[in-house]
Order: sequence, then structure tokens, then C-alpha cells
Amino acid sequence: MKSAHKATKSAYAPYSNFKVGAAILLKNGKTFKGSNFENASYPLCLCAERVVLAAAHSCHPNNIVEAIAITAKNEVKILDMPISPCGACRQVLVEVEQKQKHPLKVILQGEQGPIYVFDSASELLPLGFDGDLL
Ligand code: THU
Repeated sequence: MKSAHKATKSAYAPYSNFKVGAAILLKNGKTFKGSNFENASYPLCLCAERVVLAAAHSCHPNNIVEAIAITAKNEVKILDMPISPCGACRQVLVEVEQKQKHPLKVILQGEQGPIYVFDSASELLPLGFDGDLL
């Protein structure tokens, strides 16, 4: 979570001013961090969670992701409750978990305040789309 807080500083969020930081821990002990990356063409904005998962996978495609910590900083108000990953990111988190056949722990916090811990990403996405149908 400390690493996720640091990652908010590298966010490129000139449109929303909502700076999301995410950090992951791999089974080999390596950590990665990432932040949201916005674009004037709004639908092109990349969420911090997907940025960090893709970056880590590019370097360590076969390594298990043990945990992801997610936080955010809002320039105009203090976030004192955990922030929650968007639906698209939940779908991606669940697929990572299915691919690696190992639970992916999700840890959430606002800028300050309580920390929520979920032992599996699947807890955050009931009835997600199942790639086995394809
Ligand atoms: N955002 C994330 O990075 N992760 C989420 O799970 C939700 C939203 C980003 C996208 C956009 O840059 C900003 O937060 C406001 O939506």
C-alpha cells in the first residue's frame, strides 16, 4: 500500500485530477507500481490497475501476482474511505487470477483511513464474463 501511495505521484491525470496508484507483489518478490494515464480523448484513459498488471506481465509473464494494492489522491478533497476498482479492472483482475490459478489478493485504501482486504479478486466481481465460453 505504501508503494501504491507513492505511485499516485506519477499519475498523468490532468483531466480528472484523480490520481490513482496501484502496486503489485509478484511471487518472486518483485514489486511493480503504476498509475493512471489519461488522454484528451477520454475513452483512451488507462486505469492504474491495468497499467501495472500489463507492465509486470511484460517483464514476468509467468510469475504469479500475489496481491495488488490500490489507492488514489483527489486534488480537491481528502479520500478517507477505500477506493474501489472500476468494473473493467475487476474483469481484468479476475482473468489474471484465473490465468495463474492462484488467488489475487486485493487491498484498497483512500488517501487515508481504513484498509479493505479481499483474499480473492473474484469476491469483487460476481458473474463476471468467463473467457472459457469463447
Ligand atoms: N481510474 C483508475 O485508474 N482506476 C479505477 O479503477 C477507476 C478509475 C482512473 C481513470 C481516470 O484516469 C480517473 O481515474 C477518473 O476516472
